[in-house]
Amino acid sequence: MKIGCPKEIKPQEFRVGITPNAAQEAVLHGHEVLIETSAGMGAGFTDADYVAAGAKIVESAEAVFAAAELIVKVKEPQPVERARLRQGQVLFTYLHLAPDPEQTADLLKSGATCIAYETVTDRMGGLPLLAPMSEVAGRLAPQVGAWTLQKANGGRGVLLGGVPGVGPAKVLVIGGGVVGTHAARVASGMGADVTVLDRSLPRLRYLDDVFGREFKTSYASAGNIAELITLADMVIGAVLVPGAAAPKLISRAQLKTMKPGAALVDVAIDQGGCFETSHATTHQDPIYEVDGVLHYCVANMPGAVARTSTIALGNATLPFMLALADKGWKKACADDAHLLAGLNVHAGKLTYAAVGEALGLPSITPQAALAM
Ligand SMILES: NC(=O)c1ccc[n+]([C@@H]2O[C@H](COP(=O)([O-])OP(=O)(O)OC[C@H]3O[C@@H](n4cnc5c(N)ncnc54)[C@H](O)[C@@H]3O)[C@@H](O)[C@H]2O)c1
Repeated sequence: MKIGCPKEIKPQEFRVGITPNAAQEAVLHGHEVLIETSAGMGAGFTDADYVAAGAKIVESAEAVFAAAELIVKVKEPQPVERARLRQGQVLFTYLHLAPDPEQTADLLKSGATCIAYETVTDRMGGLPLLAPMSEVAGRLAPQVGAWTLQKANGGRGVLLGGVPGVGPAKVLVIGGGVVGTHAARVASGMGADVTVLDRSLPRLRYLDDVFGREFKTSYASAGNIAELITLADMVIGAVLVPGAAAPKLISRAQLKTMKPGAALVDVAIDQGGCFETSHATTHQDPIYEVDGVLHYCVANMPGAVARTSTIALGNATLPFMLALADKGWKKACADDAHLLAGLNVHAGKLTYAAVGEALGLPSITPQAALAM
């Protein structure tokens, strides 16, 4: 199969859909891999790296879309990319269609088969192509929070690990899922005094069993949150209620109860944020202050470490990409219900019920698409 990877064109996107290692695996499986020139540069991969892996460098995105049967990307296709898709072509990338009627209409019109990373599932009930980005954002959160706490940035001027004779900073992580667990581990590794709050007792039990010595756990009641934020130097917001906007767990009035110069890192900002005073910021201008408390609310945190993020995403997408290329989308999805869960659009039909409900559009089942 001809697998194509165009350079990402969404502003501030430095990741790339196929790494040289993934390209090499596809070539070893007998496929032809076409990479747009300089597609990997933002993540530190040169054209020569791809050529060494056996891929071919193509001069333009048009040429990639024209030649490839399977397009592998990172971000949802932009309007100019959507116009290049065609019937019979398979698109494998993040789509996030529910809040995006224009993109959905264009993908339906294209006739292409579109498989969304974010709805592919796994045996544990998780989302294996979202998890790597949560791991990245979680591990990054204490790092950016530590920087926010520095005096020059308006922070409290507190070092996370303290020094001999000076106690460590107190870090509160609200939400102990993928982001929260990775954030807590890194904050603890930096020497901070870490507490993780969650509303799920099974999750708190798991965290206590596995990480009992690394950090403390607490139930995320309103009362516990109100008490613990008064002591915290840094609060990391890492909650997720699937399919809903993030609940607001710290109100504006509560900011006055916090230490001046404390840092709020709202990782859940891509779901609206879990602090009342959060609004999305960018890597160019990541922090702002409200009532003496600093807020870091970058909605695409993994973009800050594009190389790590690209490789982590590539590791997770590789088996699915190979299955799609080896078997064709129909057999690959028929053989793997978890990949089939990623099917959002096929030949002008919506195949993901939740997207249909969100947009008020009719949908068919993915099984019906297999039978088409
Ligand atoms: N900003 C970014 O760049 C970025 C990157 C990756 C993920 N995210 C976001 O981070 C958030 C967390 O993602 P995740 O992968 O860790 O999700 P997850 O499902 O693994 O974990 C979420 C946790 O929140 C807990 N929770 C739900 N409601 C709660 C409440 N009221 N109080 C306390 N805990 C509560 C759940 O029990 C669960 O353990 C999501 O909103 C996700 O979209 C943002």
